[in-house]
Amino acid sequence: MHTLDPEKLPRHLAIIMDGNGRWAQERMLKRIVGHRKGVETVRYIVEESSRLGIGYLTLFAFSSENWLRPKTEVRSLMALLKRYLAGETPRMMANNIRFNVIGDREELPGDVERAVREAIDKTSGNNGMVLTLALSYGARRELLRAAAGLASDLAAGRVREDEVSENLFAGYLYTAGIPDPDLLIRTSGEMRISNFLLWQIAYSELYFTDVNWPDFGREEFYRALDNYQSRERRYGLISDQVRKRR
Ligand code: FPP
Repeated sequence: MHTLDPEKLPRHLAIIMDGNGRWAQERMLKRIVGHRKGVETVRYIVEESSRLGIGYLTLFAFSSENWLRPKTEVRSLMALLKRYLAGETPRMMANNIRFNVIGDREELPGDVERAVREAIDKTSGNNGMVLTLALSYGARRELLRAAAGLASDLAAGRVREDEVSENLFAGYLYTAGIPDPDLLIRTSGEMRISNFLLWQIAYSELYFTDVNWPDFGREEFYRALDNYQSRERRYGLISDQVRKRR
């Protein structure tokens, strides 16, 4: 049926999960029902990605701007997150998944922060797929934090100016040690990056689909991966050069 080339899967897949609210509103349901349904999609995509052998999966679950949503929605999202972590940690263990978080974790409510820490600790010995949730994450803040970290190391003499490189700078980001995404998917028809992984997606392939996140199932996922496999990644070179490098 689906003929994916296992050699050409993205090593790192990043997803902007959008459209939970619209999915619910179109059905005259409360927005939180859309988020709950979205969690089911998260479960499926996490397990299928790990089964396929994708090395890193990064999901934009809550942006630094999402705190400005109505209090009840923020509270429900946090509760959902906590429940997800409690429910999924045993499944992450069963699937050898290592859990990770990027973002301003200290802004999370205490109980959610604890649940996050527990999931990270429990799964820290796993060596399969790395699942990263972006929580209270914003790329500009991440870049500022990195710049400040580097500036302070320069000022203290821990780093010399001639040592400053793209690689060195990347080590100051939340994503230190994680390769850049090969593919970034955004659901629900919006063609924006919304302050997600701005540094890291410099050469990523972008894939947009009109489908809302709760409806992003097997068929849509495989369509996105198929589409990715049909692309030629040139990194600024011309086709002939890329073919010779292979
Ligand atoms: C976008 O839908 C989605 C979010 C703001 C958060 C994504 C959250 C989940 C999938 C559930 C919680 C996640 C985990 C991992 C437990 P939207 O509300 O922006 O939709 P809209 O644009 O249609 O309003």
